[in-house]
Amino acid sequence: MTQPRAQFSSSFGFLMVASGSAIGLGNIWGFPTQAANNGGGAFVLAYLVLAFLLAYPALMAELIIGRHSNTNIVSALGQLSPSPMTKRLGTGLGFVGVITASLILSFYAIVAGWMLAKCLQPLAALLGADTAAQWLSRDGIGRDLSLCLAFSVWTCWIVAQGINKGIESWARKLMPALLLILLALIAYVFTQTGSTAGLRVYLVPDFSRLSDPALLLGAMGQSFFSLSLGVGTMLIYGSYLGKTLAREQSPHKAYRDKLPRLGAIVTLMDSGFAFLAGLLIVPALYVAQAQGLEIFAADGKLMAGPSIVMQVLPNLFATMGTAGQWVSLSFFALLTIAAITSSISMLEVPVSVVTERTGLKRPRAALIISSLIFAMSAFIVFNFDQMFDAVIALSTRYSEPFMGLVLCLFAGWILHRDKKLMQLRDAQGLTQSWFWRIWPFYARFLCPLFIVLMFVQSLR
Ligand code: TRP
Repeated sequence: MTQPRAQFSSSFGFLMVASGSAIGLGNIWGFPTQAANNGGGAFVLAYLVLAFLLAYPALMAELIIGRHSNTNIVSALGQLSPSPMTKRLGTGLGFVGVITASLILSFYAIVAGWMLAKCLQPLAALLGADTAAQWLSRDGIGRDLSLCLAFSVWTCWIVAQGINKGIESWARKLMPALLLILLALIAYVFTQTGSTAGLRVYLVPDFSRLSDPALLLGAMGQSFFSLSLGVGTMLIYGSYLGKTLAREQSPHKAYRDKLPRLGAIVTLMDSGFAFLAGLLIVPALYVAQAQGLEIFAADGKLMAGPSIVMQVLPNLFATMGTAGQWVSLSFFALLTIAAITSSISMLEVPVSVVTERTGLKRPRAALIISSLIFAMSAFIVFNFDQMFDAVIALSTRYSEPFMGLVLCLFAGWILHRDKKLMQLRDAQGLTQSWFWRIWPFYARFLCPLFIVLMFVQSLR
C-alpha cells in the first residue's frame, strides 16, 4: 500500500486499454444483427447519436470519479459519501459493482472458451493434429470447462502481471491486431457472392422503425453494455490515468482538460468498431444464404448472437475448403482477442479492490479471485439451462444499469459539490469549457432519467 500506485504510461496506452474493454463480444455479435433487424442504417445512426448523447456522459462520470478519487470503486464510493451512514451505503454499493463485474466475467469466460475452442480447432487441423481437432469440435461439458479454464488462466496471468506489464502491454499489441484482422475479413467477405445483398440490408435506412421507443431504449442498453459501464471498470482505468494526464500536459499552453476528449475517442472507437463488425457479419450471413444455408430464425428475423457465431458462420467456413480454415481461424481469433481485452478489465475490478483494501499482493489476489470466478463459471456450465441466461439477465439487465445510475448520481450530485474538485477545476480554468458546463446537467438529470426509463421498459 505504501508503493506508488501504477499509472498508464501514456494516454495512448489508456486508449488501447479502455477501448479494449469496450470492444468485446457485444460489438461483434450484438450490434450487427440488431441493426440489420431494426431499420438498418437508421438504427446505426440512432445508435451513434445515443452513444454520444447518453452513454458518453455516463462513461465520463466513471472516468471522473476514478481520476478524482484515485482508487477503486468500493473505496471511491465510500470516500465520496459525506456522512458515516452514507459511507457504509457507498461502500456497499461499490461491492454491488464488484460482484456484478465478477458475475459478468463468470459467463463471459464460458463464451470466450467456446471462441477459443473454435479458434484452436482449425489450427489443430492445419497442423495435422486430427484427434485434438475432433475433440475441440465436439460440444460437451469437458471441452467447455477445459477451455473456460484455459481462458481464465490466461486472463488471470495478464492481470497478475500488473497494469503496465500486463494489461497495458497486452492491449497495445492486441488492439491493432484486432483491427487488422477485422479489415482483412471484411475485404475477404466482399469478394464472395451474396455480400452486397447483406450490405444493403445493413445500411439502407428504414426510418419508420425508429418511432418505436422500445427500440431506442434497446439501443441505449446495448451502448451501455458495450462501453462496459456500471461495474467500475472505467472508474479504475480512470484512476490509473490521473498522473499520466498531469505529466502529459504542456506547461506552456493553458490547461485544457484532456479527459473529455479521451472519453470521446473511446466512445467513437467502440461504436466505430461495432459499425465495422456489421460490415463483416451481415454480408457474411447473406453469403451463407447464397450457399443455401438458413439465416433467418423462426420469427422471420435474421438469426442473432450464438446461433450465427456458433452455427451459421462455421457452416459457411466449411463450404470454403482450405481457405475456409484460415478464415475460420482469423474469425475466431478476432472474437478471442476481443474477449480477452474485455475480460482482463472485468477481473481488474475485484483485484484492485482486494489489493488496495487488504494489501494482498496482486498475483495472489488475482489467483484467488480468478479461482472463485472460475468456480462460478463451472457451476454455470453444470447447470447451464437454469443458470446461463439468468446470470446474464441479473448482471447485465438489472445490476449494470442500476449501478450506472448510482455512478451518475455520485458524480453529478456528490462529486460536483466537492470543494477540492471545484477549486482545482476553477484554478485550471476548466469551468469555462463547454464540457464542464453541459456535463453536470447530464450526470444529474438526463442520464438517470434515461436509465430509469430503460429499466422500466426492460421490466415490461
Ligand atoms: N463491453 C464489453 C463488450 O462489448 C463487455 C462488457 C460489458 C464489459 N460490461 C462490462 C466489460 C463491464 C468490462 C466490464 O463485449
